[in-house]
Amino acid sequence: MAKRSIIITGGAGFIGSHVVRLFVNKYPDYHIINLDKLTYCGNLENLKDVESAPNYSFERADICDFEAVSAIIRKYNVDGIIHLAAESHVDRSIRDPFAFAMTNVMGTLSLLQAAKAYWESLPEGYDGKLFYHISTDEVYGALEMTDPEGIESPFTTAASSQHHHAYGSEFFLETTKYNPHSPYSASKASSDHFVRAFHDTYGMPTIVTNCSNNYGPYQFPEKLIPLFINNIRHRKPLPVYGRGENVRDWLYVEDHARAIDVIFHRGKVADTYNIGGFNEWKNIDIVKVLIKTVDRLLGNPEGASLDLITYVTDRKGHDLRYAIDSRKLQRELGWEPSLQFEEGIERTVRWYLDNEEWVDRITSGDYLKYYEEMYGNR
Ligand code: NAD
Ligand code: DAU
Repeated sequence: MAKRSIIITGGAGFIGSHVVRLFVNKYPDYHIINLDKLTYCGNLENLKDVESAPNYSFERADICDFEAVSAIIRKYNVDGIIHLAAESHVDRSIRDPFAFAMTNVMGTLSLLQAAKAYWESLPEGYDGKLFYHISTDEVYGALEMTDPEGIESPFTTAASSQHHHAYGSEFFLETTKYNPHSPYSASKASSDHFVRAFHDTYGMPTIVTNCSNNYGPYQFPEKLIPLFINNIRHRKPLPVYGRGENVRDWLYVEDHARAIDVIFHRGKVADTYNIGGFNEWKNIDIVKVLIKTVDRLLGNPEGASLDLITYVTDRKGHDLRYAIDSRKLQRELGWEPSLQFEEGIERTVRWYLDNEEWVDRITSGDYLKYYEEMYGNR
């Protein structure tokens, strides 16, 4: 295995921490540099198990800080960048769109410029280099829900879920026109365009992938699944937006990390791959599965927490349905989800219940002290 020096941005976040863990453990000859600003959702406690690995380094930096990012790229002689750092929560983007333009658009541009300057200064230029940008299915906009009761999904995978529904006949393809609706998705769409522009204009080797909703351990408890698990545990209301009819396509986070590994190593430069779970669920049905699972694992009577469901005002501009067609990735690179949703949810609920301290240190704010303890002032 060739030695490589790879920056993973946003490695202290939810998906980034799984990608860092996978790469650090699987590729001992690679040097993995986790570049993260440690915003409210960056948590080094997500990486306790790999923080002292010899092939892992942490660099605290803001991707918007061109000088800092340039220095880190030079310092480690970086030949690959896997870019996950972002503001990622749609509700926050509705309250503060500026922060999303700053990090997701300007931050991505600053990282691209820094990589360009360094790689173009080398004798070999862009040879053996890759800028891999992690994006979202939300850039494609929303799909119609033509079958509110759900039809048999046209897709099959080895891990096809027992629940195998599609709520419409259309799916997002790599060729689907961008049509973002929220400030979050608009900022991600813009960053995707910049990445592709750097390939088309300067010849930088780039790849973009667009993934559906992830779930699993270490997700910040502002997102639907960890928030609701924690609320059920504490018998707090479960704020379901609108009527809970919106549909999302859910993928276990480790399956996303595996896809990133496959695409980083074998993906076609300048190409785009959709990554999805073949696994559509209405929010309200997810909430019922969570209630059932948490109640069972806590030894509560069946249905004990159903009274916590509280319908609240809908999210502004709430996209109705996302559904990814990721058969290109299945066909060309042989990747598909490995885990059935029922098993993934069981694992996820167990993880949050077994790791109450991880959640409690976030809700109390104590996790913010971890960096100081490890590295000095935050
Ligand atoms: P997250 O919010 O859990 O983590 C984001 C990380 O980025 C944090 O560690 C944070 O500290 C860091 N960060 C934020 N601003 C930064 C800056 N200016 N400089 C350096 N670091 C900064 O996010 P996530 O859910 O893990 O998502 C990771 C990426 O994957 C994002 O680009 C997101 O758009 C994309 N994505 C997420 C999902 C999902 O379901 N969570 C699905 C598809 C795509
Ligand atoms: O589709 C990929 C995207 O998935 C990623 O790009 C985003 O970074 C990620 O945050 C996620 O976006 P969503 O908006 O789909 O995720 P969230 O967990 O915030 O919400 C999931 C669904 O649940 C959505 O329809 C809104 C609804 N919801 C969410 C929360 C937090 C509720 O009904 N109540 C809630 O309290």
